[in-house]
Amino acid sequence: MEINKNIKDKNTFGIDISTAKYVEFRTIEELKNIFKDIGSDKWYVLGGGSNTLFTSDFKGTIIHPISDKIEIIGDSNIKVDAGVDWDYFVAYSIDNKLYGAENLSYIPGDVGASPVQNIGAYGSEVKDIISEVEYYNTETESVEIISAKDCLFGYRDSIFKNQLRSKIVVISVTFKLNKIFTPNVRYGNIINELDTSKELTAKIIRDTIIKIRSEKLPDPKKICNGGSFFKNPIVTVDKFNDLKSQNDDIPSYSDVKGIKIPAGWLIDRAGWKGYRKGDVGVHKNQALVLVNYGGGSGKDVISLADKIIKDVNNKFGIILSPEINIL
Ligand code: EPU
Repeated sequence: MEINKNIKDKNTFGIDISTAKYVEFRTIEELKNIFKDIGSDKWYVLGGGSNTLFTSDFKGTIIHPISDKIEIIGDSNIKVDAGVDWDYFVAYSIDNKLYGAENLSYIPGDVGASPVQNIGAYGSEVKDIISEVEYYNTETESVEIISAKDCLFGYRDSIFKNQLRSKIVVISVTFKLNKIFTPNVRYGNIINELDTSKELTAKIIRDTIIKIRSEKLPDPKKICNGGSFFKNPIVTVDKFNDLKSQNDDIPSYSDVKGIKIPAGWLIDRAGWKGYRKGDVGVHKNQALVLVNYGGGSGKDVISLADKIIKDVNNKFGIILSPEINIL
């Protein structure tokens, strides 16, 4: 346990703040002991720190998983500890000829956060490959397992962000993968980027996605950011037709709940792409990503986000909501 620890290098937004207490766990025993110490104090699990924006010093305990076991179970399942780097798992699955995770290549963060956020990209969501999640329930003080269907997964949403919020800590995730590779290249520009002269493999999809992501999204090691700042809003068909009549080129995806519009397009069209004020701004290649050039505070980022929300609402009548966790 460390006291008054600065965690600037533990959040990819690079916000210069500290936490009253900081502790890491590798085993379930260690995790149980941490909660004996915490008692009724405030706590928060920080994985890779790529989806959290701190707006002030944290007054409680930050818990960080460093568990790193990854094992193949049976024919095609992989059980992965919460502390494993997400992209390490994706590469591992492909190396072991188990498929289904390839479209989620190069997403920053740890495996433990993947079910919480139901991470998604390029036409896949992690819910499609999760079999079950093992977690420590701080209320019952026991280890429990929940099957994917009970996780109530939605777009960047799950039971862990709602009913189980601030109650559980993910210990491991078991993925059900496929021994047969079925390419999923329907989304966006993947198909245009692929070299169609070669036989399509999961490795080729992975390499293509890594190329697309690294061209469009800023590397947090170079420019601090937390990936998509906002969720893509879902609107009614009537609202979409209304927007379409005034913006012929508006991109959209159909969704079970209506029509999904890329927030990046709305922010870009509202004129914010590349905007910079002081040390915070909107990325020049992807307007969905807010960036910290070095000395920006969490409050600076929030103030920029608020201006964008107001402006997009004025121009399009849509209220954007953050996908990032704000503390
Ligand atoms: N667009 C613009 N201007 C921009 C950004 C996007 O016009 O500045 C347009 C693009 O041209 C495209 C559309 O908006 O027509 C969608 O853009 P893109 O394919 O880049 O994806 P996105 O909707 O912006 C989502 C996820 C990303 C994920 C990509 C790829 C959310 C909030 N974001 O972004 O996830 O990588 O799709 O599947 O759903 C993340 O969650 O951190 C993340 C990066």
